[in-house]
Amino acid sequence: MTALPSIIDKYLETTEQVDPIKCVGHVIKVQGLLIESSGPQAVIGELCRIEIPRGKGVVQAEVVGLREEVVQLMPYGDTAGIEVGSRVIASGRRLEVPVSKKLLGRVLDCMGRPLDGRGEIASRVRYPAAAPPPDPLKRKRITRRIATGVRAIDGLLAVGRGQRVGIFAGSGVGKSTLLGMIARNTNADVNVVALVGERGREVNDFIANDLGPEGLARSVLVVATSDESPMARLRGAYTATAVAEYFRDQGLDVMLLFDAVTRFARAQREIGLAMGEPPATRGYTPSMFDSMPKLLERSGASDKGTITGFYTILVDGDDMDEPVSDTVRGILDGHIVLSRRLAEAYHYPAVDVLGSISRKAQAVSGPVTQKAAGYIRRLIAVYNEAEDLINVGAYHQGTNPAIDEAIARKKAIDDFLVQGVDEKSSVVETLQVMGEIAGVEIPVEEMQVHQKGTFVLPDDSYRDAADDERPDTREEAAEQAVDAGQSAGDSGAEGVP
Ligand SMILES: Nc1ncnc2c1ncn2[C@@H]1O[C@H](COP(=O)(O)OP(=O)(O)OP(=O)(O)O)[C@@H](O)[C@H]1O
Ligand SMILES: [Mg+2]
Repeated sequence: MTALPSIIDKYLETTEQVDPIKCVGHVIKVQGLLIESSGPQAVIGELCRIEIPRGKGVVQAEVVGLREEVVQLMPYGDTAGIEVGSRVIASGRRLEVPVSKKLLGRVLDCMGRPLDGRGEIASRVRYPAAAPPPDPLKRKRITRRIATGVRAIDGLLAVGRGQRVGIFAGSGVGKSTLLGMIARNTNADVNVVALVGERGREVNDFIANDLGPEGLARSVLVVATSDESPMARLRGAYTATAVAEYFRDQGLDVMLLFDAVTRFARAQREIGLAMGEPPATRGYTPSMFDSMPKLLERSGASDKGTITGFYTILVDGDDMDEPVSDTVRGILDGHIVLSRRLAEAYHYPAVDVLGSISRKAQAVSGPVTQKAAGYIRRLIAVYNEAEDLINVGAYHQGTNPAIDEAIARKKAIDDFLVQGVDEKSSVVETLQVMGEIAGVEIPVEEMQVHQKGTFVLPDDSYRDAADDERPDTREEAAEQAVDAGQSAGDSGAEGVP
């Protein structure tokens, strides 16, 4: 192919973004985060540009409220320099993310623009950042296991493709490190990593240490750090989800690693409070409780592919009943709790097996595996119960056979659960060790991680031919599907060859 089509594409893309009829308004008030303007005519969710006077640039903002003539806007960037009278120009569009296979290996900002200085993502295909979740009746059932490479999870908390799991922990207990391990070791086709509200320095650390070049090549990172505006953090979460949806629409199994949902909730709280919403629980406004399911329900399985979601939740003061934890736990299909006590004992990953649950473990693991996992859980429970007695030397061997067994297996179980950051464990290895501890032989069929054939990272020919036929928006996609008389649920998860 010559360079011509890409020039035309670029031209089309540019012209599409030029709005010949500018709807212009003027700033009348800036109060904290909230900017009010008189005009332009705009709808909720529409992107507007606010011009900083004397040619000092523009700030992107989103319409969040409308009151008679007054438009309420939340900026994506810094409000410094905006003054009464600054022009507000409506774009006529909501936030959309350019998507393409070229996103692999790239680092994007909250609006889907590259942050890594490696050139634009020139794509005519755009996905809306805020989209509805898949039709519940068309979602494929979760029946296939996904490998995380982490023994505690693959062994005792098996996760299915399309399952959504929360990782709950206090600060510094190892949430981000665990996400990094999963990103590197999973057998998902593509990772989408959302770093929302995290410290800026952590981004490079995550890329260099946690992902590494290999992990990065099959990942897309969307970053909105803690110093960015609440709108940027909020929309960063949506943008990452939209990118994951794009890859899911290609029939792939996507791993969405989201760090941290709590920062998303806090961004929503800041916006809600700035707009005058009443604080409900711990200062969280009703819009937080409303936006959480809207975000989390978008992952999971669709009729085409799957998004397996791991969402980290920072548990305030290790209180699992604080509002964000409580809301998220009710929506997701499982939770992994990391315990500070284990982390302090240098037992990493600090998974509190008994406090964690995977609601789909039964659906994706075989009967012998379940039996072995149940046995190990029971031993851990028995040991924990008797731990105080054992530690003070008050327990005498031979008094209780269950405790004797728990003590005898304690080291083997700890060795199984403790795993170095760089140590990868395949599902086969994990289940073999688990079988040995439980004294059962887990049949080979139960160890198989169903693959759709070997997934080869898409090369340049991937989907290029199809790109032109691809719908530009979801609405067009829906129209095309209707035109083609596509019946529900029969589109198959063919995936990329
Ligand atoms: N698997 C591990 N092996 C060894 N050390 C670990 C492991 N996981 C975490 N740690 C230690 O715990 C520290 C904190 O881990 P991490 O940054 O992942 O926690 P976090 O829960 O994401 O923290 P925050 O709440 O601040 O985001 C790391 O710097 C590291 O020293
Ligand atoms: Mg972290």
